[in-house]
Amino acid sequence: MNYSIMPHNANFIPPVQKPTPNFLKEVGEQGIRDLLTRLYSCLDKSPIRPIFPAKDTQEMMEAAQISADFFIQICGGPQYFNQNRGMPQMRGRHAPFAITAEARLHWLTCFEEALKPLEKEISEESLQSFWNYINVFSIMMINTQG
Ligand code: HEM
Repeated sequence: MNYSIMPHNANFIPPVQKPTPNFLKEVGEQGIRDLLTRLYSCLDKSPIRPIFPAKDTQEMMEAAQISADFFIQICGGPQYFNQNRGMPQMRGRHAPFAITAEARLHWLTCFEEALKPLEKEISEESLQSFWNYINVFSIMMINTQG
């Protein structure tokens, strides 16, 4: 697995490619929900915790499941996010939160930690495809300098 992080100021940002549908087939919906629970547990203890409006760990876990709805959908599953929250418009939804290049690094570092347990459960190809997606797409969430 290659968890390298693409520089946010790269001259060329490759087009975002959705994760392979095999990722969802191999991990399953519950696996994606568990993945997002691990991500938000890590974010809850991370230096970027103050960016998140959740007032306690329970609210972080609720936010994790909203995000899981999105990731299940983007991985080719049911349109839970559209049904519950409307169109994704991720850049717009992140606009109220100051996301710096450094915040992205913390976010991706937590995601790497959350993905590690899947290494022994699913194919490297699927895992790499998921990482490539968040690696590139996260560049577009940066909205604040410094
Ligand atoms: C670059 C680093 C990122 C940071 C620091 C970040 C941070 C945040 C924050 C602060 C929220 C608001 C949580 C809340 O309202 O409780 C949020 C929501 C969300 N983020 Fe991110 N995010 C990042 C990248 C991404 C990426 C790349 C994706 C998708 C591929 C994503 C998907 C989501 C989703 C689905 C939500 C929920 C939106 C909703 O409440 O309707 N985030 N994120």
